[in-house]
This record gives sequence, structure tokens and C-alpha cells, in this order.
Amino acid sequence: MVDAAHTLENLHTETRSFRPQASFAAHANATAYEYKKAGVDRLEYWREAALRLAWHETFTEILDWSDAPVARWFHDGTLNACDNAVDRHVREGRGDRVAFHFVGEPGDTQTLTYSDMHERVQKAARGLESLGVGKGDRVAIYLPQIPEAVVAMLACARVGAIHSVVFGGFSAESLRQRIDDAEAKLVITADGGNRRGEHLALKPLVDEALAASEHHPEPCASVDHVLVVRRTGQKTEWFSGRDVWWHDAVDPQPAEHEPVWVEAEHPLFILYTSGTTGTPKGLFHTTGGYLTGAAHTHRLVFDLKPETDVYWCTADVGWITGHSYIVYGPMINGATQVLYEGTPNTPHEGRWWEIVQEYGVTILYTAPTAIRTFMKWGEATPARYDLRSLRLLGSVGEPINPEAWMWYRRVIGGNKCPIVDTWWQTETGAIMISPLPGVTATKPGSAMTAVPGVEVDVVDDAGRPVANGEGGYLVITEPWPSMLRGIWGNRLRYVSTYWNHFDGLYFAGDGAKKDVDGDLWLLGRVDDVMNVSGHRLTTTEIEHALVSHPWVAEAAVVGAKDEVTGQAVVAFVIVRGDAHDIPDAGEEIAATLRKHVRKQIGALAKPRTILVVSELPKTRSGKIMRRLLRDVAENREVGDVTTLADSSVMTAIRVGLEAGTGD
Ligand code: WTA
Repeated sequence: MVDAAHTLENLHTETRSFRPQASFAAHANATAYEYKKAGVDRLEYWREAALRLAWHETFTEILDWSDAPVARWFHDGTLNACDNAVDRHVREGRGDRVAFHFVGEPGDTQTLTYSDMHERVQKAARGLESLGVGKGDRVAIYLPQIPEAVVAMLACARVGAIHSVVFGGFSAESLRQRIDDAEAKLVITADGGNRRGEHLALKPLVDEALAASEHHPEPCASVDHVLVVRRTGQKTEWFSGRDVWWHDAVDPQPAEHEPVWVEAEHPLFILYTSGTTGTPKGLFHTTGGYLTGAAHTHRLVFDLKPETDVYWCTADVGWITGHSYIVYGPMINGATQVLYEGTPNTPHEGRWWEIVQEYGVTILYTAPTAIRTFMKWGEATPARYDLRSLRLLGSVGEPINPEAWMWYRRVIGGNKCPIVDTWWQTETGAIMISPLPGVTATKPGSAMTAVPGVEVDVVDDAGRPVANGEGGYLVITEPWPSMLRGIWGNRLRYVSTYWNHFDGLYFAGDGAKKDVDGDLWLLGRVDDVMNVSGHRLTTTEIEHALVSHPWVAEAAVVGAKDEVTGQAVVAFVIVRGDAHDIPDAGEEIAATLRKHVRKQIGALAKPRTILVVSELPKTRSGKIMRRLLRDVAENREVGDVTTLADSSVMTAIRVGLEAGTGD
């Protein structure tokens, strides 16, 4: 299960610490009292947080843990997520507040107030109902980062349907797997999106996903309709009876719709994430607890002042960060946000800073890979823009190295903004470990401590807490409101993935270290999950994709350190000796296989490097020794080879690579 040793190599010895500024602390949403209150009575702390939501019928029980590890929080209450995110603001007189400043990549913009959103979600909810979607039905959403993506998610929640957002960068095959697993009834997509100045088609991929194919002898049976937003105006094939335009099914609807009140434990969404074995896992979250966790942490960790802040989370709504910290948390808190469709360097490398300046962004939440990219582009670019509106910076998705942290603080934050390095996962639904701005003194590179109401620890192989100064596995020791409720349709897999490693403890899959003060340093995954630009991928899924190509006899994939993306996919392949159409050059093979992986999984999984080798290092029991391959991929001296079945293999790989059969 583990390969923690390599992650513990560079134990941190950071001595810098930045204390909160008095001027920030004086107005901060969080105070040290939060920790005290949560420490005295954790459940009461969460009860109070939950009561900030708008309940249709309020709950009486806080936590029912009798069916552990499946929790039920606030289960006898009823509410609606869309009502909390939208209607409530209109009802309470905040309808004129801007919900979104939308910025399209080509430069088109829209300003949407909470009243505008109210109108849109009601029409969309009616549209969904007219297509036969109701409570408990699953809806796949495959859209670019445009307002309709937010509206579609909220409209699903409004009618009690369960959304499953699939990131637009996934392939038709990945989309099909996710549609099939959730048995989605409807797919919401667009003709296309804008990406690096080009039109990226989406609808044709949906058509391909729903049709019979090499992997799927039958067309998809569950989907009745495809609802299509016109974004780029690209031509698309039309399947009458199945395909419906958004502007026909949604826009003409009356803006009147009563939300469907659901039980707190009604599933709100499914989100697929790479599993350590083959197929992606459909993690699902329910309504009351998830919303409590997302809204509460958003208010405390980002110090949101909804009347004055302009908040920008740069994640895509297709990932959990977009779900919790664009759609649900911020909207429940009535935030004014920036929603940006495009990439950071289209049409120029200053695009983000131009947006910060233009909209007066005060809170920015992004990923270390983006920060390192900006470092590479140079500080002269951000220096051309006025970034003085920024007052808080956040980081998420992977460990942030101290250099990137310091650069972020100095170049983007003008040495005055607190940085919140937030550790959490799709599974946790909300931030688990983070400094509280105005309260916590921060160390560059450390996510510091668990947020109030959350209990984490670092344990050794036997599940015993390690002492300060030592490393081990990160675990969560008490249930929390926004915890996943399971893997869609597979309770056993849920239990074995998260709860079987250490008795009664949630196993996060991350290595961590407690420093001498007991503050936490996240050290990356300890399983075969890779983190590429903050996206989770597993070695096995890419290996499966590679061996599904007729040229490939065997494949092994590792995540190698990469300066910008954190990790990069490096694949070692053995090509078939009996196939005669294989080109001689490694480069050609690599290009073909890269395209193949893109087609199978999506562009995000494309290996950076493909190395053609004649053998793979294996133990006597036939297990591939990825540790050794990682050594090669990272250009290191190859480590201990004594457990190899054939110790000459590594020499053969090295010699082969040096002779130029690699990419
Ligand atoms: C990693 C993203 C270090 C971690 C919200 C986790 C981090 C995985 C941090 C979850 C951080 C996320 N420091 N590592 N601040 N945030 N991770 O499900 O390995 O896409 O297990 O959720 O990202 O990725 P996921």
C-alpha cells in the first residue's frame, strides 16, 4: 500500500513564520475562540454552523454515527441547496448584489446578480422537469466554465436531481464510463468552449460517448436527452428527439419554480475521482452536512466580507474545488465572484492580473502549479498591473513549496496578504487543514493545523500517533459534516479504500509530518495516485489505457517530480515483438501512444515522457517496482535493487535509454 519513504526524504526545517497583522486580525471573521469552542463541544460547534443555513424544517439530531463509517448529519432536517445559494439572498434583500462577473476567454463578459441567478435557476429547473428530470435522477454535466455550468448544477439541486460534473478535458470514453456508472438520464453540454484562442468541441464527444463503440457494444441506454448550450456556434450533428437546445428548453420557461425540499442526507452530487484500482470512483456527497462544511470553511478560511469582497477561485467547476469554493460555499455566503473561462496566458501572460485589476479582486484562491508557472514567466508581468486590491491569497491541490509560497506572498500579495494553504480532498468536501487568517502565524509550505471542528492526526504503520518531529500517514479521527457518504453503488469499496487501513480512522492517502511545534507538512500521496497540476490521476488507469493499444505489451507509469506541474506522467512501455507495423523510432511510438492516452482518458493524462524499454523491473512475485522507475524518471542514481527478480534489468533500461530508444 505504501511507499512513504520517498516522500519523507525532505523533512522540512523551515524557520520563517509570519504572524497575522493586527489590522487584519481586528476585522477577521475567525478568532482563536473558534478552536476553543470546537474543542469544548465539537458537535455543538457544527450544530451552530449548520443553523446558519436556511432550513425548510430544522433538524433535531446532529450526528448519527450508528452506521459508521457512513455518517448521517442533521438527518431529520429538510432544505434545498439552490434555495440556500440563491433564493435566500433575494428573499433577504440582497438580490441586486453581483453574484458573478463572468469573463469569457474571447473577452465577452456578463454581470449576473443574485436576482439574475434566481431567474436563471428557476427557468433551468423548469427546463429539467420538462425533460423528465426529478428527485434522485442523475444528470451528467459536461460544460466549459460558463455561467450555465453553475446554473445547471444549481438547477439540478433545485429539483432534487444529483449532478455529476465531468471536467471538459475528459475524453468521450471517460465521459461514457461516468454516465454509465451513475446511470445518468440527462447530459448537459455545450457545442464547445474556448481554449487558448480556439474552439474546443464538446457536443461531438457527447455523441461519441453515447454511441456504440469498440469498448461499448451497445449505445448508452440510460440517457434520454442531451441539453445543449450554444457557446461557440460550432456546427454539430443533431439527434432529433434526443438533443434539445438550452435556448429552446430553458430560456422560454417562466421564472417560477418552488424548490424541492429534500432531506439533509439526500445526495447532492457525485464526483468521480481516480481510484487506485482501474475504474474511477463515484464519490458522493449529501446536502445538509456538505453545505455546512463548504459554507462554514469558506467564511472562516477566506474571511469573506460579502458586501465588499470580490472573490476569485480559479479552479474549474468540474473539480471539487469548483463545487465547494465557487458554487456552494461562496454562493451560500452571498459572495461576489469572478468566473473566468480561459487559460492564464490567453491572449497574454498577464491575463489573470488584468482581471484582478479590472474587477478589484480581493481574495484569490489558486493552485501551486499556477504559481510556479507565473514564477517561470517572470515577475515583470504581474508588476505591470495594480494588484493592491488583493487582501488574502489561498492555495490548494498539492503541497506548495516554500519558494512558491514566498513568491506568491511577495509578488502577488505585496507582502501584506495572509496566505492560506488549504489541504483537503474530493472526499472531505471542504477544507480540513489550513491556517485561519488573522489568527494563525503561518510557515511557508505548511498547511498548519486542522480547522476548528476537524480532528486529524499523523500515525505510523500501526496506526499510532507519531511524535512531533516525525512523519507518517495523515488520518482524520472524527466524522465531519462534509465527509463523503460513500462510493456510488459500492459500499464495500468505500470501506476498504478509506477505513480498513487503520481501525476507525479515515485514511487520506497522504503522507504528512508534524514539525517540532506540531504543525503539519503535507508530503504528497503514499499510494499510486499522482498529482499532476493539482489533478488526481492514478498510475493504473494510464497503464490500462496504454496496454489497450495494440503495439503495447506492457506498461508501467510513474509520477516523476516536475518543477511546474508538481508531478508529471512518465510511462515505460514494452512494445510487442510480433507487431510489424510498429515504427522504429521511439519518438513516433511516443507520439502515437500519447494521442492514444488522450483519447482514452483525456488530455490531462497524456504522459510527458514515454520511454520504450525492453524489460520492466519486477519483484520475484511479479510486482513492478515503481520506485526504481521513478529513480530513472527523475534522473537519480537507482536505489536498492536487491529485491528485483533479475537485477540486470535496471542496467538494461539505463543503457537502452542512453542509446536513445527513449523519448
Ligand atoms: C492533494 C483537491 C498538499 C493531496 C481539493 C490530496 C494537497 C489530494 C493540498 C486531493 C495541500 C490537496 N497541500 N497536498 N494544500 N490540497 N492536496 O481530491 O494529495 O482533487 O489527497 O481535491 O490533493 O485532491 P482532490
